[in-house]
Amino acid sequence: MSDPHADPKLSKLEVLEQKNAEALLGGGQARIDAQHKKGKLTARERLDLLMDPGSFEEIGKFVMHRSKDFGLDKEYYLGDGVVTGYGTINGRLTYVFSQDFTVLGGSLSETHAEKIVKIMDLAMKNGAPVIGLNDSGGARIQEGVVSLGGYADIFYKNTLASGVVPQLSAIMGPCAGGAVYSPAITDFILMVEDTSYMFVTGPNVVKTVTHETVTSEELGGASTHSTKSGVTHFTAPNEVAIIQQLKQLLSYMPQNCEDTAPVYPYDAQGDELRTELDQIIPDNPNQPYDIREVISGIIDADSFMEVHQNFAENIVVGFARLGGRSIGIVGNQPAVLAGVLDINASTKAARFVRFCDSFNIPLLVLEDVPGFLPGTDQEWRGIITNGAKLLYAFCEATVPRITVITRKAYGGAYDVMNSKHIGADMNYAWPTAEIAVMGAKGAAEIIFKREIAAADDPEAKLQEKVDEYQRKFATPYRAAHRGFVDEVILPSQTRQKLIRAFKMLENKVDQLPRKKHGNIPL
Ligand code: HXC
Repeated sequence: MSDPHADPKLSKLEVLEQKNAEALLGGGQARIDAQHKKGKLTARERLDLLMDPGSFEEIGKFVMHRSKDFGLDKEYYLGDGVVTGYGTINGRLTYVFSQDFTVLGGSLSETHAEKIVKIMDLAMKNGAPVIGLNDSGGARIQEGVVSLGGYADIFYKNTLASGVVPQLSAIMGPCAGGAVYSPAITDFILMVEDTSYMFVTGPNVVKTVTHETVTSEELGGASTHSTKSGVTHFTAPNEVAIIQQLKQLLSYMPQNCEDTAPVYPYDAQGDELRTELDQIIPDNPNQPYDIREVISGIIDADSFMEVHQNFAENIVVGFARLGGRSIGIVGNQPAVLAGVLDINASTKAARFVRFCDSFNIPLLVLEDVPGFLPGTDQEWRGIITNGAKLLYAFCEATVPRITVITRKAYGGAYDVMNSKHIGADMNYAWPTAEIAVMGAKGAAEIIFKREIAAADDPEAKLQEKVDEYQRKFATPYRAAHRGFVDEVILPSQTRQKLIRAFKMLENKVDQLPRKKHGNIPL
């Protein structure tokens, strides 16, 4: 960094001009070129794409680090490796930080952290989302513990802000070591394919400790985290697409926990009966269908934004609009593992339900679930605790909640999937619904075991009992007689019914008993 004050020929206004120009260059043109060569944009180019044109106001542009060790007494950059500030996205106030890899690898110093914390404090006080564009080599190695302290300050603020304002993290480059825990605490993570990665310890440490040979991409690339670990909620092939996703995601959310999501204009023409839904459930109860087709048969055209699309595909979660209003959808997916609930599906859906409940986004549950996945793998890894997360998340949700049972609602999964008993406001069933303790064959084999064994033709007897059980229980009517189902509706009526019911529930007020906080089974 040159010192413009040292040049007596410059006026005071020229000094400012020079400083501004210098800050815009970050770590210098050579490093900007290197960033571009990697297929990456700079911190400021990303902000230009993200924020409404001309709306960005920078805070702390001239902040510099205070370190003196390992050559840092001679190496200063205005802004210290992170561009922070506020502006609007689609006209709505948003706070943002964008790490600048051209400055000491975007590494996090004490002052870099202070800048991030400052905008998080403003975001919480003023009730607006925070977006982090992460591209950093982690803790600034030359600073030691003050850098670690800076990270901890951010983690603490992330936690305090959780449930107060939406927090979104886009990973645009390296994100390693303890640095991963800030994005992990935020509500959604988005990763760029091929140029971003996240891990607690990198390939070299992995090799030393576990003797595994693995690349950065395999260990913590976008594909790994979207399919295997579930750490990331969204991926996209490039940074421009990720920024588009950030904007779209924000469009479903309110500004803060006291606010409601924006209402978008919609075409009421689309409110007619959706007759295609009347044929969607196959005659054979074991035949799969795609729950996404049910979703698109209900919501406003093209309004579905699926979350965690490639992880735990036996459950589908995402945001949509119904009559112009944001809703969160949780749907069992009969096309994958028959829509069974397992550990990953339960945790995926539980986190989504809690996000929606934190931010006043009503929930729609589409239910076709044969039960929880049996087996030693699931039991030993804790399907009990993990399944309980989803149960707990629904039980404590106070937003408007509606369930539509399209086909199977069996066993404990019937209770868990937003049943009336755990606080759902309205429960509909299609005539194809089967609400029972278990499937007819399994049930008949247990309760008529002796009768079947004693029969001259056990196969025929079993079939007779299966048919009897099916007639009596594999319908929505027992539940409807009890009022556990409010109405049995034609599939084609679903959209109309839901628009009306959510409108009826829009002023719902419900409160949990006074407590410090609950103890969700983690
Ligand atoms: C200071 C750093 C830095 C860091 C990179 N740089 N990481 N400076 N602290 N953590 C600097 C480099 O010296 C280099 O400076 C410039 O940034 C670009 O780095 P390169 O290595 O040339 O870039 P690249 O080849 O793309 O490699 C990027 C990288 C690598 C993979 C991120 O730099 C790297 O491994 N860095 C160290 C990562 C790390 O171990 N961080 C600590 C993690 S532990 P010049 O001057 O040449 O441009 C941690 C704990 C957090 O973060 C705990 C929180 C609780």
